[in-house]
Amino acid sequence: MKRRMNLIGTAVIMLLMIPAISSAASLKGLLVYESIYGSTPEVAYWLRAIIGDDQQQLDVKKLDQVIAVKPYDYVIIGSYSKNEKPSPRIYKFVETYQNELAQKKVAYFLLQGDWDETMVLKVPGGTPHLIGGRNYLVEIQEKFPGVKPVVIGGFGGRQVMPALQGFDSFQIWLLEKLAKEGAAWSGLDIWESLVPERVEVFGNEVRQKILNLPARTDLAKYRGYWNSLQPASLTDSSKLKYKPRPYTEHKSTDRILFTRSRIRGTLETAEKLLQQWAKENGLTLKEQRRTFFNIYYHAVKNYGGKELTIHIVPATMSDDPGNVHISFRSYDKPAERKGLEEDVAKAEKILWADGRKVEGR
Ligand SMILES: Cc1cc2nc3c(=O)[nH]c(=O)nc-3n(C[C@H](O)[C@H](O)[C@H](O)COP(=O)(O)O)c2cc1C
Repeated sequence: MKRRMNLIGTAVIMLLMIPAISSAASLKGLLVYESIYGSTPEVAYWLRAIIGDDQQQLDVKKLDQVIAVKPYDYVIIGSYSKNEKPSPRIYKFVETYQNELAQKKVAYFLLQGDWDETMVLKVPGGTPHLIGGRNYLVEIQEKFPGVKPVVIGGFGGRQVMPALQGFDSFQIWLLEKLAKEGAAWSGLDIWESLVPERVEVFGNEVRQKILNLPARTDLAKYRGYWNSLQPASLTDSSKLKYKPRPYTEHKSTDRILFTRSRIRGTLETAEKLLQQWAKENGLTLKEQRRTFFNIYYHAVKNYGGKELTIHIVPATMSDDPGNVHISFRSYDKPAERKGLEEDVAKAEKILWADGRKVEGR
């Protein structure tokens, strides 16, 4: 009798679950994208495959083809990055449909040259500021706060230099020359920078957070969308394969002190250790910006009668779970920044202690 009751109970639970399963499976999605040079739609169709065309309807449309968002339950918005943000027409799209989008589940993704969310850029006459990856999605979220994405992604991307139209080609060339950064800003590492794991994590997050589906474990099967399109420039044999940019770097030149590494832990781990370091060494940590994935600090101290600033960014990355990446930068002249360099070395020592440093790459 008891066993029969149990069976009936199980059957009732299963019956109750059917609407939940079928509603996830019947959700109708729109993936709308903007592209100039064609790398964003490649990723759009790759994402569509990961998200699962067998389980629900997901229309992939170029921005110009979208006449309404009403029929859709969720909307994924993808764009190339230009001038450190999504395209102006993507802003216009979100503005036009903001009231409807506010009622739906939304995700944003970007392609871009620079995926590094610990990256601070300084060009002559400009203020050093955060760039790269999901940093480019901060402004659009501030501008349209009613539209709250449940998933965001910044994937890196592709730039085939000979294909760029006149002014674009000039702008990219000039930026590379002017960037005070002095870090790897030429060659394949920036022009062929897509991080496939980020696309895959994003696709799985959409499955889990929007569709209530389990994450896929058979992601390798979809890599063809990316692998088959390598290398970007078939005419240049030196561009045989994309080589991931290093996570660990140290550079001390006339233009910049730049050092970058990663440790095991969370953003909070890095935050606590940096606060301890600042306190012990007489620096003032001034928080400039905070997101769920990174924090941008100015660490300020008087060295030899002059107040100098260290730019510090700890960031978590979706392609490297369980670790925090931390960059330090100073744009002061080598003679002035001697004490500052010593302080940065002390910070890294504290961060790396107790086996936290992650070696390799
Ligand atoms: C004129 C121009 C400006 C760009 N500006 C940025 C930028 O500010 N930051 C960045 O990370 N990438 C930038 N990029 C790189 C593109 O976002 C990247 O190559 C992307 O993959 C292009 O997508 P698409 O092929 O779909 O057009 C720029 C590219 C061009 C041509």
